[in-house]
Amino acid sequence: MKRLSARRRHPLAGLVVLLLALGAVGGLYSAFAPSGTAEAADDASSLQIQEGKGLYITSCSSCHGLNAEGTSDGPEIAGLGAAAVDFQVGTGRMPLQSREGQAPAKKQLFTEEETVAIAAYVASLAGGAPIPTAEQYAADGDLQEGGEIFRTNCASCHNFIGKGGALTRGKYAPNLTGSDPKHIYEAMLTGPESMPTFSDGVLTPEQKKDVITYIKTIAAEPDPGGYAAGRIGPVTEGLLVWTVVIGALIGAAVWLGAKPS
Ligand code: HEC
Ligand code: HEC
Repeated sequence: MKRLSARRRHPLAGLVVLLLALGAVGGLYSAFAPSGTAEAADDASSLQIQEGKGLYITSCSSCHGLNAEGTSDGPEIAGLGAAAVDFQVGTGRMPLQSREGQAPAKKQLFTEEETVAIAAYVASLAGGAPIPTAEQYAADGDLQEGGEIFRTNCASCHNFIGKGGALTRGKYAPNLTGSDPKHIYEAMLTGPESMPTFSDGVLTPEQKKDVITYIKTIAAEPDPGGYAAGRIGPVTEGLLVWTVVIGALIGAAVWLGAKPS
């Protein structure tokens, strides 16, 4: 008791008490102010759309138009939905740098919150597919099933173990092993550039989840499916497969030819 009252008399004691009181008031305010009413939620989402609109106008409208209707510098994106915007901005693809290459080397990056705000704004113009929920892209699907779907639908471009590969006309399918599960879901849903769109009619949400489970599993395993050909790259691996397959074919031909008829 004695020590406490001694402290009270410290010249800074008044200030400390004042600060504590202010802190308590602030805490009480934030605990009670957003009392979870629908009105508060509405306000929050319209604030988010406002924020997104501001960012959209400064960073996107020059190419995609003030109402996302498109210009000669960028396609119409109204109606593509929040998922497409979240994918394009979330992976740093958008905003696109000037194609002439005269623009700054530094890519503008948005925070997660800003990205969601821009997505909410574009979605508010004309709807479209929403950003998938964490439950939808959780990697807890069927691994076996996912592997089959991946080999049938994705491996032709992204390689059997998701390492990516070259496509025609200088395009390439990126390596997927570092991809965020949410972005994998969104890529399937929205089909960026030359990638096909896998709508829910083509791959159900359940199957998308299986594919994500497969990609995340092979990404976690250093060398799935055995020998990685020294990890020198797809060309070496391709050459190896080619050599083995052609070798087998030659062997078969020789064997057939040698068979007494
Ligand atoms: C310098 C011009 C430019 C700017 C700035 C720009 N974009 Fe784009 N955007 C493009 C072009 C061109 C494409 C189509 C080619 C591509 O995907 O690379 C595109 C594609 C897109 C797509 C995918 C369209 C589709 O059909 O799948 C979305 C979504 C998108 N942009 C959103 C945005 C958002 C959001 C911003 C602002 C943060 C932005 N873009 C800024 C030029 C631009
Ligand atoms: C016809 C070739 C093709 C097929 C088939 C294909 N993709 Fe793609 N994929 C691409 C291309 C090209 C890109 C890059 C697009 C871009 O940069 O805008 C891409 C991008 C992606 C990305 C984004 C990766 C990143 O770097 O952010 C993911 C994830 C993805 N694909 C997953 C899949 C899955 C899963 C499937 C099968 C269900 C699939 N793709 C089928 C060509 C393909």
